[in-house]
Amino acid sequence: MEESIPLKSFSMSRRQLLNFLTGAAVAATATAALYPAAKFFFPPAEGTEDGSLLAKDIHGNRIPASQILVEPPGTRALVAGLAGEPTYLTVREDGTLHPWGIVDNCTHLGCTFPWNPNENQFQCPCHGSRYDPEGRVVRGPAPLPLKLVRVTVAEDAIWISPWKETDPRTGQKPWWV
Ligand code: FES
Repeated sequence: MEESIPLKSFSMSRRQLLNFLTGAAVAATATAALYPAAKFFFPPAEGTEDGSLLAKDIHGNRIPASQILVEPPGTRALVAGLAGEPTYLTVREDGTLHPWGIVDNCTHLGCTFPWNPNENQFQCPCHGSRYDPEGRVVRGPAPLPLKLVRVTVAEDAIWISPWKETDPRTGQKPWWV
């Protein structure tokens, strides 16, 4: 014989319904209020399947885009990028970050180098190679342009990912791929 469940067991009294609706409203309000705090304590994931990483400072702390974008256009900010490679990010005239970063690793023998704002060049101190603002060789012995990485900004986080497309400076496949 089939047992039937009395419909009454599913019914909700007016008080229960009121309690349910109040609870739902409180939960929604609390979620909305706590979301920013939760985002602060649980920052975006550190890495993704496409190899993207968050830009960090020398101490391994995330660098928000807003921290770099307060600097004037033309600023080159050095951050830790893919595999910890020091990488220059550029502030553009429109107050955004340039979509590519330049890896601070001379293509001659791998020295790191400073940006010289007076001469508008990256200048390697080891053997005198010089690169233009976009990393093209201006003077050897460096044989190749500087390696690029992709830079994207999402909700103030700076993501750095491998540059696998055509090198926009040469129109050819990147030498590092
Ligand atoms: S390592 Fe830069 S010029 Fe030699």
